[in-house]
Amino acid sequence: MLNRDDNELLTRMGPGTAMGGLLRQYWIPALISTELPERDGAPLRVRLLGEDLIAFRTTTGTVGIVDEKCPHRTASLFFGRNEENGLRCSYHGWKFDVAGRCVDMPNESPQCQFREKVRLRSYPCKERNGVVWTYMGPAAEPPPLPEFEWNLAPDNIPFLWRNYRACNWVQALEGDIDSSHINYLHRTLEGDDHSTVPGHQLPGYTKEQLPLVHADASPELDVRDTEFGVVYGTKRALADGHDYWRIHPFLFPFHTMVGGGIREGEVSFNGKAWIPMDDRQTLVLEWQFRPGKPWTNSEREGLTRVRNPWGFLAATSEAAGAWKPKACARNDYFMDRSSKLFCGILSNPLQDAAVQESMGTVCDRTLEHLGPADAMIIRVRRRLLQAARALAEHGTTPPGVNRPELYRVRPVGAILPPGADWMAASQDRRHV
Ligand code: FES
Ligand SMILES: [Fe+2]
Repeated sequence: MLNRDDNELLTRMGPGTAMGGLLRQYWIPALISTELPERDGAPLRVRLLGEDLIAFRTTTGTVGIVDEKCPHRTASLFFGRNEENGLRCSYHGWKFDVAGRCVDMPNESPQCQFREKVRLRSYPCKERNGVVWTYMGPAAEPPPLPEFEWNLAPDNIPFLWRNYRACNWVQALEGDIDSSHINYLHRTLEGDDHSTVPGHQLPGYTKEQLPLVHADASPELDVRDTEFGVVYGTKRALADGHDYWRIHPFLFPFHTMVGGGIREGEVSFNGKAWIPMDDRQTLVLEWQFRPGKPWTNSEREGLTRVRNPWGFLAATSEAAGAWKPKACARNDYFMDRSSKLFCGILSNPLQDAAVQESMGTVCDRTLEHLGPADAMIIRVRRRLLQAARALAEHGTTPPGVNRPELYRVRPVGAILPPGADWMAASQDRRHV
C-alpha cells in the first residue's frame, strides 16, 4: 500500500506536479507515424500529460506538436488550415510554424510588429522509424533520443499499436510488471490451448513459453535496481528440476518489456510505453519487434486480430478517438462466463483493461495489501517516487535522461539450473 500523499505524488502528472516534472524530462513516443499520414492533412487532437495539443504534418513532412489554443483569442487550432508549412487559425488567419513562431498575421497591417511578440507553445518533435517522439521538458537543448532497439532499424519497423485505458497510467503500467497474474487472468481452462483468440498466441509469449509459465502458479520473484530502472526475474520451478526464469525490465519513466523466448533466433519482444493522456486516461504505445526478420503483412494482420477481436467504436476527432475499443466497462468487455477463458473476456489487452479499469480511474493504493509476489510493483513505485522527489527538491537529473545507450535492453527467458545467478547468466542476452 501507499499512503495518500505518496499515491497522489505517484499518479498526478499534470503541469506543475512533481511526477509531471519527472515525465517531462524524457522524450515521449507521442504518435505512430501512420496516425498522421498526410502532408498538409487534417490536424490531429492529442492529449499528453494533461495538455490539449494539436499535431500536424507540414508540406515538407515535418511533424509539429503545439498547444491546441491559438494565442490570439484562444480558438482551437483543430479547426485550423494546415497549409504551406504551417498551421493557420481559421478565426483570424494567424499562422504558426512547427516551432510556434507566428509567421503570418494577416488581420493586422503589414507594418505591425506584433507578430514578432506572439508565440504558440510548441514541443520539439523527432520522427524515427515509424514513431514521432516529442520533448515537453524545460531544457533548451533536449537530451538525445533513447536508443531502443525496436526503434533503430529503418528496414524493420515493429508492429505498432495503441491500447486505450480509461484509468491512470500507473495502475495500467503496474499490470505489465506483475508476473503472477498471467497464470490467472490470461489463462484458458483447456489444457494446452493458451491462446486467447483461436489460432493466435498471446502477445509477448512464444508457444514453448506458455506451458512453462503455467507450470508453476506461485513464482518466486527477485528484483534488482539498474541504471535504467528496475529488472525482475521470476522463477518457476519445472518438473525436471530446472528453473524457468522470465527476466523483464522497467525503464524510466514508463517503459516495460516482456517475452523474449528461451533460445536465440526466432524470438520476438513485446513492449509498451504507458503514456498518460491525463490523470484518468492512458494511451499505451505497444510494439512487437522481431530482430532481423521484419513482420510480413499477413503476420501484422494476425497481430492486429489478436489484440482487437471486437473492433473499435466509430472514430471521432477527439484525442485517442480512433482507439476506443467497443469492448469496455459499459458492456463488461463482452464477458462470457461460459467461455473456456479463466476470466471470460476475449483477448489479452481487454483482459488487462477490465481489471485495471475496475480499480477505479485513479487506484486508491491505501486500500491494498501487497505480498512478496508484488515486489516489482513496490520497487518501481519507490524508484518513481524517489526520482520525482529528487528532481523537484534538488534538481537531480533522473535515470536514463542523458544516457540513451542504457535503453539498449531486451527482455529474456532462460532455463537455468537451481541456484543459478539469473542476472549474470542472462547478462549477454539482456543487452543489445
Ligand atoms: S483566435 Fe486564432 S487567429 Fe484569432
Ligand atoms: Fe496482463
